[in-house]
Amino acid sequence: MIMRRRTRDQLDSLALEIRSCRRCPLSKDRTKAVPGEGPEWAEILLVGEAPGRDENLAGRPFVGRAGSVLDRCLEEAGIDRSRIFITNAVKCRPPNNRRPKNDEVEACRPYLEAQIELVQPKVVILMGNAATKAVLDLEGVTSLRGRLFKEIYLVTFHPAAVLRNGNLREVFISDLLAAKDKVDGRWPPARDEDYSD
Ligand code: URA
Repeated sequence: MIMRRRTRDQLDSLALEIRSCRRCPLSKDRTKAVPGEGPEWAEILLVGEAPGRDENLAGRPFVGRAGSVLDRCLEEAGIDRSRIFITNAVKCRPPNNRRPKNDEVEACRPYLEAQIELVQPKVVILMGNAATKAVLDLEGVTSLRGRLFKEIYLVTFHPAAVLRNGNLREVFISDLLAAKDKVDGRWPPARDEDYSD
């Protein structure tokens, strides 16, 4: 219990540091930085790309349109959003929602690494190319999705891609279910041969 409180305190001070961060130019135009949110004991940690317009205003991750898709898919997979930790590769909004640049991802990387280290989740879901590149230095989510790397990182599509292309929805939900299986110690998930490496 005391350890958990310490982890919570460390996550909270990290969030404070992120809110006043000036490590890259994205800090100049932000309204609010978006450190991420979730319990310190989360078994699943989700990584998106970067805050969008709504997140920049709210200071919270995935509260806009991509967030609604994410919420609905989480619900369908039987995952309670309040029990997972949600964050992004980059904590401030890039102008016009462009993809974060390499040096911006680099500047922000220590924050993401610290969050993963503190939470110690059983699975980290990398949603989309930016998160996958930031953490694994790999590109090409279409061919990487559904694969588990270093026994903890599961690659899948970004919810915005699901929003653009409804055909990806089933696969995205299937990957969320696979993450649940991983939490329960089942990998590859028994129900789908697609997940063996
Ligand atoms: N897209 C992301 O990648 N992250 C958010 O927080 C919102 C939209």
